[in-house]
Amino acid sequence: GVTRHYKFDIRLKNVTRLCKTKTIVTVNGKFPGPRVVAREGDRLVIKIVNHVSNNVSIHWHGIRQLQSGWADGPAYVTQCPIQTGQSYVYNFTITGQRGTLWWHAHISWMRATLYGPLIIYPQHNASYPFAKPHKEIPIIFGEWWNANTEAVINQSLVTGAGPNVSDSYTINGLPGPLYNCSAKDTFKLKVKPGKTYMLRIINAALNDDLFFRIANHTMTVVEADALYVKPFETDIIVITPGQTTNVLLKTHHNPQQTTFVMVARPYFTGQGTFDNSTIAGILMYDDDHHNSPTSSDISIKNLPIPTLPPINSTSFVSNFTNKFRALASVKFPANVPRNVDKHFFFTVGLGSNPCPKNQTCQGPNNSSKFAASVNNVSMILPNTALLQSYFFKKSNGVYTSDFPSVPLIPFNYTGTPPNNTNVSNGTKVVVLPFNTSVEVVMQDTSILGAESHPLHLHGYNFYVVGQGFGNFDPQNDPVNYNLVDPVERNTIGVPSGGWVTIRFLADNPGVWLMHCHFDVHLSWGLRMAWIVLDGKLPNQKLLPPPADLPMC
Ligand code: C2O
Repeated sequence: GVTRHYKFDIRLKNVTRLCKTKTIVTVNGKFPGPRVVAREGDRLVIKIVNHVSNNVSIHWHGIRQLQSGWADGPAYVTQCPIQTGQSYVYNFTITGQRGTLWWHAHISWMRATLYGPLIIYPQHNASYPFAKPHKEIPIIFGEWWNANTEAVINQSLVTGAGPNVSDSYTINGLPGPLYNCSAKDTFKLKVKPGKTYMLRIINAALNDDLFFRIANHTMTVVEADALYVKPFETDIIVITPGQTTNVLLKTHHNPQQTTFVMVARPYFTGQGTFDNSTIAGILMYDDDHHNSPTSSDISIKNLPIPTLPPINSTSFVSNFTNKFRALASVKFPANVPRNVDKHFFFTVGLGSNPCPKNQTCQGPNNSSKFAASVNNVSMILPNTALLQSYFFKKSNGVYTSDFPSVPLIPFNYTGTPPNNTNVSNGTKVVVLPFNTSVEVVMQDTSILGAESHPLHLHGYNFYVVGQGFGNFDPQNDPVNYNLVDPVERNTIGVPSGGWVTIRFLADNPGVWLMHCHFDVHLSWGLRMAWIVLDGKLPNQKLLPPPADLPMC
């Protein structure tokens, strides 16, 4: 591999969307941010210089960071934030990975405007397990607020109420013609007839799973979270925040029209408000036979808008999710852990902090505030970074190693919740010896309504060996686990009113965050951390931190 250098200058920029101009934080003045491109085996050296008044920190979502946990990026977990005027160099090698990943800010809600694709091509002598596409195009969904997103989340944390929902979704930064004065801000995918395109689809929205469809075209899913899957065809994809999906799009040989509408809008089963708007873009045939329309011609008025499943269609989502299987070929085998050393059962969901006596509170059911938790522990970030405290053996007063492996009070998770489900706050971790084979059952709770939660694990990919609805049944459900070709990924939606089981081998030493990739739930505490100890061999040890590691 080679070494590739990037420089990210974090700068303010005025951007106009939905007829309103606001100042946003960007990388190099670009929104969405620049594309980072590498090949499997390359080293990436990315220097971040912070020229804004906010603290920043960048996460390379899905990169395994073998022995290089200092470059992972979640603020107060693997590093202190990069403060105003400071810089930090993220330095890591891409080992054994290729596909579509992405990068984003990992502090507060800064990722609303700080995100971009991270594309890893196969090694020079390697090829895709499918015919090489004519072109590859990143499609990155985002979420846009007219208001300042830091103010939106801070207000929620202060009042205890839910944050204001976004004003639009975006495709590659553009809302499209269904939104107020946004026809000129429409994403156009220009294609030629009779060719195959690979769309590298990324959901960078903050708080919503999305359905996506292109009128009159089917897609073949070939990759999920930078891991090849058994190809399958679909008209509609569902993608949670944090996930990436590569699809092949075959264009028609003799298209009857030159333009087709593409749409995306949320899947949502929770309570409360959410942005239920629809985003649109255009697939545009552009060849010698047709006169391709100029941008002023673009109107979707007379074009059919493809239909999507109902907003709360959990059945569609679960059918779709179940179609994903690891490629499990000779070249790309599925190394599913067969034996489990440590079993965990985690409840994930919303909850609330009790309201102090004789007060009225703004949280749900007169609680003091919304909270979200894993096993009823709502994680508070420390004032320093967990990885620094761990590495320098200064954990006292920073974290404790008593994260519960099962919920403290078992109950009917998908039925009527008992009264004593208030969350407690803490900074607790699970410590795992090197090479522990781990199984985690993640159970959605309906304490404040059943809702799908996109759970993301840092530093690892995991196998999704089982999923189902209702309460997990420890007697009967494991019998049906798929240990042959379960999909391997880094983010999985815990089904609304159901459970999912994942397995991974803890072979990467460091401190690794696991959390809901809805930023609102992340901010409310739906996160926990694993500490994976060093192994005995030199290549099983976390390397010391770089000299420029930010201090708190
Ligand atoms: Cu994509 Cu912890 O995040």
